[in-house]
Amino acid sequence: MTAQRFIQVGTGGWGRYWSRTVIPHLLELGIAEPVAAVDVNPANLANAREGYGIAEERCYTDARRAFEEQPADFAIVVVPPAHHEAIIDLALAAGCHVLCEKPVADTMAGSARILLKVTRAERKMAITMSHRFDQDKQTLERLVRSGAYGPINYIVGRLALNNRRFGDWGDFRHRIADPLLIEAAVHQFGIIRGLAGANARSVYANGWNPEWGEYAGDSTALAVIEMENGVRASYEGSKTNASTISPWEEEYWRVECRDGTLELDRRRLRLLRGGAKDVPAVEELPLDDGSAWLNPLLAERFVRWLDGGPAPETRIEDSIHDTALTMAAIESAHTGRVVDVPAFTQDHLDAAADELGIRA
Ligand SMILES: NC(=O)c1ccc[n+]([C@@H]2O[C@H](COP(=O)([O-])OP(=O)(O)OC[C@H]3O[C@@H](n4cnc5c(N)ncnc54)[C@H](O)[C@@H]3O)[C@@H](O)[C@H]2O)c1
Repeated sequence: MTAQRFIQVGTGGWGRYWSRTVIPHLLELGIAEPVAAVDVNPANLANAREGYGIAEERCYTDARRAFEEQPADFAIVVVPPAHHEAIIDLALAAGCHVLCEKPVADTMAGSARILLKVTRAERKMAITMSHRFDQDKQTLERLVRSGAYGPINYIVGRLALNNRRFGDWGDFRHRIADPLLIEAAVHQFGIIRGLAGANARSVYANGWNPEWGEYAGDSTALAVIEMENGVRASYEGSKTNASTISPWEEEYWRVECRDGTLELDRRRLRLLRGGAKDVPAVEELPLDDGSAWLNPLLAERFVRWLDGGPAPETRIEDSIHDTALTMAAIESAHTGRVVDVPAFTQDHLDAAADELGIRA
């Protein structure tokens, strides 16, 4: 295949990982070619230069100039969610496809507009829902979806860390509203959708920030979700605990199936079974093999899609449901009400279509 030319926007923060790990994976495969790197903070462009050797003259502090001056096939968007839409607008105007970090945007209105703009422009877009596509979660998803343990009854998930001091979790997350739901739970909600094999029907969430959390918005949340196929899920997320018992990449998951309890804890996967009075029979299960996981896997699938390969599960048409569940949970946390997720999503898509004047 011909290497697909790309512009990376956002090379600091998480963009450092893109520059030093994800993009080098694409270059090693020979499927992508960098044409520009952009960051409003010029010091952060060093990550792109050092990570994949982009030339100084291809480094920009203004995304508009980069898209005007460097023809590209796709954009990689690694800026905070509130800035996604402005960068995607520039990318689409330049005829680029888009590979964007999660969530789609920081609001449901913005996310719905992005989906419709991408559709209108007839471009491809995918979201890097990294953690669902990690080795341990993909193994669990494959096993529960195989049906080998019977139908799923319910799912329990937990991400719990001590990131309570300002800056522990990247400055912008301490300043925005709803950082836990927007920046963390979107991943766990994606995992729940993957495990259940369905979109959410309803969500009730309660979010808050304890007095010792150095956050302007809610750093902790509990949520109950019902999926469209009847699977229920309960979610616990916190960035302000006294301990880090379920950190990133080592979250706790338990899937209660009719014929087995599958438990994933700090990447250890176990199958438990037994009657009320038995000591449970425990079987350790191996994780699946694979050559790439997380963003390297998702970026590779996206680029192969541009070249005519299969559409990835993280394409925006599907991934919008991860963001929609997140935004519906925020709506629930703000109003105290159970939110009907499909109706919430459709209302925002209709409003975005009206706003953009593209309703059929
Ligand atoms: N998939 C994951 O596991 C994961 C992990 C961390 C972050 N993220 C996502 O990555 C995105 C970026 O988060 P972050 O942690 O890197 O944020 P950050 O604030 O740490 O870094 C953002 C970078 O983008 C630059 N930037 C900001 N606005 C810009 C603009 N308009 N044009 C060009 N550059 C701009 C900043 O200077 C900075 O270098 C977010 O969507 C976040 O949710 C995903």
